[in-house]
Amino acid sequence: MDTKINVLLLGSGGREHALTWKIAQSPFLSKLYIAPGNPGTAIHGINVAINPLDFDAVKRFCLENQVELLVVGPEEPLVKGIHDSFITDSSVQHIPVIGPQRKGAMLEGSKDFAKEFMFRHGIPTAQYKTFTAEKFNQAKDFLKTLNPPYVLKADGLAAGKGVVIVSSYDDACLNLHEFFAGKFGTASQKVVIEEFLSGIELSVFVLTDGLSYIILPEAKDYKRIGDGDTGPNTGGMGAVSPIPFANKDFMKKVEERIVKPTINGLRNDAIPYKGFIFIGLMNVNGDPYVIEYNVRMGDPETEVVIPRIKSDLLAALMACSQNRLSEVSLEVDSRTATTVIVVSGGYPGSYEKGKEIAIPESLADNTILFHAGTSLSNGKLVTAGGRVFACSALGNSIDQALEKSYTLAKSIKFDKLYYRNDIGNDLKKLQNQ
Ligand code: AMP
Ligand code: GLY
Repeated sequence: MDTKINVLLLGSGGREHALTWKIAQSPFLSKLYIAPGNPGTAIHGINVAINPLDFDAVKRFCLENQVELLVVGPEEPLVKGIHDSFITDSSVQHIPVIGPQRKGAMLEGSKDFAKEFMFRHGIPTAQYKTFTAEKFNQAKDFLKTLNPPYVLKADGLAAGKGVVIVSSYDDACLNLHEFFAGKFGTASQKVVIEEFLSGIELSVFVLTDGLSYIILPEAKDYKRIGDGDTGPNTGGMGAVSPIPFANKDFMKKVEERIVKPTINGLRNDAIPYKGFIFIGLMNVNGDPYVIEYNVRMGDPETEVVIPRIKSDLLAALMACSQNRLSEVSLEVDSRTATTVIVVSGGYPGSYEKGKEIAIPESLADNTILFHAGTSLSNGKLVTAGGRVFACSALGNSIDQALEKSYTLAKSIKFDKLYYRNDIGNDLKKLQNQ
């Protein structure tokens, strides 16, 4: 490759800051635009005030600014068909898009579609059945055949809130009723009821051009708001990579039983797919089972996965867009990366925005501060979201990395700031075994 390209990245969270930080280091980059981005992405690229769901505005910007690669951060534009919209428009169909077309994005956009896909291709996952409101009685009968706890999932996108796990049959029926009554609008018209899997979760990330794939570093996310995994689910309160139990044997099982059948399954089903696949897994007594697919990178997992990738990410994305991924191998830092998410008090419920933020002027070595929910107001950095920063760090052990992440988290000041104090504690025990 001897050309430099202009890239447009869609999104505005910590994930997008991490991707921006990495892509900006590539010798193949000319200009990097981020829509809409955040004050962190503006350090390494050029923010443009475009809504990623306004496909016409995205296309216009690409044409006016000679964008040669579109990278889609979040799932919503993909599920709503931004890639299809590029392919079917002759003015922009020459611009490659990283992120699947609508059909592939259904792996995340419809739980029922994803479960059918897994069963069709023999990919290990929990037993399940899908019901609509007319089948309420059959759904209740199916619940009776399962052992508690009961797992109910809204079929469609529900901003990460569409899964409930309850311990009593009565609660399960109540939730089922609420789902069918429109708790998540059309997303919960169909409900997947599945067997509860007991184990430790981890996330595996794959980049595929539809034929070849590369497996990125794996990570573990901490979803609950409170220490000790208590309280409501959030988008993610911290992450660690690598995972002590994801050793060679386990990852070989993941590759043979899950990654390969997924890529082959997409091909056999004639579902074109270029982009990231985020596989949420449960390690059940040493065997991996798929909990969910996402069609994008995870957030905050990206904030630990990306710092461990030593190779040029943009070169890999360009190879992906040109069906040359088989030529790419990733060099990965063997050190541990951790991230601690600093949030606005009240999150994931209601919280205030616009709080003035103080951050350190310089950062310690091997420490990166990724912006997630920040904005500029009259030249001052203020809070603009629930998750405000990802405090990422690299170290020779989980402890070393965490110490740096927490030192950074403690150095950030704003009113009602909160973070979990126990990120990685469960893994430290495993690491020391
Ligand atoms: P999902 O949105 O499908 O990732 O589900 C959200 C969370 O619910 C997951 O991260 C798991 O912690 C939990 N979960 C989902 N499905 C199951 C299952 N079958 N067994 C146990 N936990 C589950
Ligand atoms: N951290 C979980 C997600 O990105 O969906």
